[in-house]
Amino acid sequence: MREDVSTRIGTPLSPSATRVMLLGSGELGKEVIIALQRLGVEVVAVDRYADAPGHQVAHRAHTIDMGDRDQLQRLIEDERPHFVVPEIEAIATEALAEVEERGLATVIPTARATQLTMNREGIRRLAAEDLGLPTSPYAFADSLDEVRAAAERIGFPCVIKPVMSSSGKGQSVARSVEDLEKSWDYALSGGRVNKGRVIVEGFVDFDYEITQLTVRAVDGTHFCEPIGHLQDSGDYVESWQPQAMSPAALAAARDVAEKVTTALGGRGIFGVELFVKGDDVYFSEVSPRPHDTGLVTLRSQRCSEFELHARAILGLPVDTTLAAPGASAVIYGGVEGVGVAFEGVADALAVPETDLRLFGKPEAFARRRMGVAVSTGADVTTARGRAREAASRVRVVVPE
Ligand SMILES: Nc1ncnc2c1ncn2[C@@H]1O[C@H](COP(=O)(O)OP(=O)(O)OP(=O)(O)O)[C@@H](O)[C@H]1O
Ligand SMILES: [Mg+2]
Repeated sequence: MREDVSTRIGTPLSPSATRVMLLGSGELGKEVIIALQRLGVEVVAVDRYADAPGHQVAHRAHTIDMGDRDQLQRLIEDERPHFVVPEIEAIATEALAEVEERGLATVIPTARATQLTMNREGIRRLAAEDLGLPTSPYAFADSLDEVRAAAERIGFPCVIKPVMSSSGKGQSVARSVEDLEKSWDYALSGGRVNKGRVIVEGFVDFDYEITQLTVRAVDGTHFCEPIGHLQDSGDYVESWQPQAMSPAALAAARDVAEKVTTALGGRGIFGVELFVKGDDVYFSEVSPRPHDTGLVTLRSQRCSEFELHARAILGLPVDTTLAAPGASAVIYGGVEGVGVAFEGVADALAVPETDLRLFGKPEAFARRRMGVAVSTGADVTTARGRAREAASRVRVVVPE
């Protein structure tokens, strides 16, 4: 076993360096990398395409197929990081399990957590069947006939999702028996692997949904203020913090978050997604990594979720204090093009208490997240208005 480096940090690019490898280097990974860089950590950024956002701020950048066990294993053996930090779900998690088993590196939070959460079946069965947490009713199905039987039991409307998918891909709501075939076909087209297995979930008519950011640090579990958010076609468009909750709902949210993160184990930040109706809280899913809706914490918390992740990974104490009510609003590409430009940036930054993050993605798509506006204010309503206004002032253009 290697020496425990968690309580001391070396000098980057020297033999004493504390080395972290990010698997996935999008906008969330980029912020984790910046937080690690600020603590003097040597960072290796990995993604499936060149010049990903995190590649641009790391000590070294690699472009590989992270779903390929051999490629991933080889890279970890070459780079010898102390910590391997998955930023995305689509990873050859068998390679991570082997790395962990051989004591080659610490996988954040654990190889098992990455494995369980990349498949809706793994995490749902853990939450509902092992831990007894409240969830929507659900069933798994491998064919249209099984979907029909499941939907009949669960009732309408129901939500049909490939077991391996994220960002709403392949996911649809069936309102009646007539919708089931379309939903099944759509799920087949949107799944990552394991084509043909879906979860059928009862539709939860929630009052609001939250992300309960939960940090498992060296000294125990810490909770951030709840983050409210709006989703559109499987992607978040706006988030804010704190989301007002009844004391009973807040206590239930933290109880669920504590149980599920304890079961997953390891150190790091988790985004626990919950649906809230009155005082009742339903577990939906959990990311064992920073959550996109948590971008708001770049300004609303004393330490952003990315800084909290960095600290937890390194075995340092965390501070989840809210600094000010805040909000984030996503800036979409709106156009397709390589090497796009952003106009209206000065106008956006003229909005009070507002910052922008432009991710630096080499290529824009209409529905690709290219940046985010983050604002604070005296209350959440003010912050939301500011973030929305700032985001709307930024225009993505394709240079001639
Ligand atoms: N059973 C349900 N009842 C009501 N709404 C739901 C249900 N399942 C999902 N949704 C809505 O769809 C959104 C996306 O669902 P979910 O988080 O399961 O998908 P995802 O593909 O994992 O998305 P992401 O990767 O962006 O978190 C939820 O945040 C919620 O707004
Ligand atoms: Mg989700």
